[in-house]
Amino acid sequence: MANVSIHTPRDPNTLSNYNNWRTTQTAVSLEILFEEQILQGTVSHTLKSITNSETKEILLDTSHVQINKVQINGKQHKFELLSRLEPYGSPLKIHLDSGVETGKSLDVSIDFATTSSCTALQWLTPTQTSNKRHPYMFSQCQAIHARSIFPCQDTPDVKAPFKFTIRSPLPVIASGIADESNPTEPSTTNSPQTHTFTQSVPIPSYLFALASGDISFAPIGPRSTVATSPDRLSACQWEFQHDTEPYLLAAESLVFPYKWGQYCVLVLPPSFPYGGMENPIYTFATPTVISGDRQNVDVIAHELSHSWSGNLVSNCSWEHFWLNEGWTTYLERRIQGIVHKHARWRDFSAIIGWAALTDSIKHYGETHEFTKLIIDLKGKDPDDAFSSVPYEKGFVFLYHIEKLIGQDAFDRFIPHYFGRWSEKSLDSYDFKTTLLEFFEEDKTVSKKLEEIDWDTWFYKPGFPPKPEYDTSLVDEVYSLAEKWEAFTNIEGEQQQQSDFKPKPEDVKGWTANQLVVFLERVLTFERPLPTERAKEMGSMYSLRGTQNVEVSSRYYQVALVSGDTSIKSYVTDMLGKVGRMKFVRPLYRCLIAMDVDLAVETFEKNKDFYHPICRAMVVKMLMGKTAQGA
Ligand code: BES
Ligand code: ZN
Repeated sequence: MANVSIHTPRDPNTLSNYNNWRTTQTAVSLEILFEEQILQGTVSHTLKSITNSETKEILLDTSHVQINKVQINGKQHKFELLSRLEPYGSPLKIHLDSGVETGKSLDVSIDFATTSSCTALQWLTPTQTSNKRHPYMFSQCQAIHARSIFPCQDTPDVKAPFKFTIRSPLPVIASGIADESNPTEPSTTNSPQTHTFTQSVPIPSYLFALASGDISFAPIGPRSTVATSPDRLSACQWEFQHDTEPYLLAAESLVFPYKWGQYCVLVLPPSFPYGGMENPIYTFATPTVISGDRQNVDVIAHELSHSWSGNLVSNCSWEHFWLNEGWTTYLERRIQGIVHKHARWRDFSAIIGWAALTDSIKHYGETHEFTKLIIDLKGKDPDDAFSSVPYEKGFVFLYHIEKLIGQDAFDRFIPHYFGRWSEKSLDSYDFKTTLLEFFEEDKTVSKKLEEIDWDTWFYKPGFPPKPEYDTSLVDEVYSLAEKWEAFTNIEGEQQQQSDFKPKPEDVKGWTANQLVVFLERVLTFERPLPTERAKEMGSMYSLRGTQNVEVSSRYYQVALVSGDTSIKSYVTDMLGKVGRMKFVRPLYRCLIAMDVDLAVETFEKNKDFYHPICRAMVVKMLMGKTAQGA
């Protein structure tokens, strides 16, 4: 028994046997076929045996991928696609003649093609793009969609450097450093051109990313470029050029220097299902952040923070997702405090976060599994567990620790933690140990850390204790909301008197985020506003037609909840123009409650516009099969 080591897989959402093999290098070479709407090519993994000839099998994750050929160390090999296990896919099984001793590697090369059932890719025809000249494609692999592009160990517990060789007639962006010779213009003959990229920092499969289309480039900082459709380029450049480098500098002052070389942003078509996705080198962002007033750039502060939390230091499974998102939300808010030179700005953002947490917990119910910090995802789809909980409960936990031990002590811990786990993956218990060990010698801090009830924080569902925030930026907002709340009483049975007369000046000079806080507050009223009052609010504060989707989508919820049927056309219009799930989900939820036929009709009309991940989410909502968390 002396040489036997047991590696229990930490990630229940992969069917790969990554406890036997570790990917140490991946090379993807593929062609983007816009006509057929598929990717076709070869993926080569170097797989290191981490057990001593314990297995003769290699199992890789795949989902709806066509496998054409498997080679091991250059020699063709038999393979088998096992039957599908929802939602994880069909593992690719490669049987070896003999086991491999610890530390020795095999080169496994697989010829593959994606299929029309691929969940990671969205393909747009030229008419679906903003300048309508060329087709477009992009990927979204988090959480478990990389396996629908190519066979891999699709778990954040495995990280490897990547090489990309991509053939496309249009410019290509990938999650690696672009070779200087890559073309940056569409090919004039429409024939494929080769683009190569290198990612030398090891990354998990979910950070594999690809986009190709009529994309042009402009600088937004000394190490940053924005990429987008040529007709949107100058607007995107204006939106980001003011803040990107200050954000990077603030993050570096909190942690340590940025390790990835360039930090760039790709602004995608409106069907991009997230606000932002932290793909290395190139953050992918929704065009809804381009509001012409730089009021939504906090998304960039968030995504670039992932360069440390998530991308350099990764959660080892989606059960510990708070380590990615809670840390990122924490860093993002520290950055806000630094660039605005006052901590009240981070508290302002934290107050918005608490409202989002309240909303999620309310929707799940206070005892729901997904309201815990560490969640059980065995047999489950991580996309179904997506909510504000890991972000906001994770943030509140880190904020709590910071307040408990003091900011100076916590600031010493930040670079230590990210250095200790750099290029690795960890779980919540590793986090705990790292924190406790770091302060072992410091008796005062250690004593304070003893107060943390770890089990409660990790496993108790529902609300964490609410921190005390500096409310100076929201006091005005709350007091206006209170005046509106009075309308929910006086127009009912008990007639009270209120001399409040809403007027446009009530919100004069407010930032979009203040309006967001105001509307969130209104959404938490015990009773909805009377319909006429909701209408009045919309016209007085110009909330119906605003270009800022953060504001308008929340106002639409207020109107829907109040029973204002005249808002329906605005809602269905937005659901045909914005595919970001953060907006799509609550709007469908309210629309279903008001008019389920209209919800179905709206979905039928727009389903081709939505990314497959968003489409699947709405289908689940319409079938009433999801917990519908926010
Ligand atoms: N990594 C997430 C997006 C994500 C999470 C994609 C889980 C797939 C599965 C990204 O960093 C994120 O949190 N985006 C937010 C932006 C925000 C909090 C500023 C979003 O999309 O709303
Ligand atoms: Zn994030």
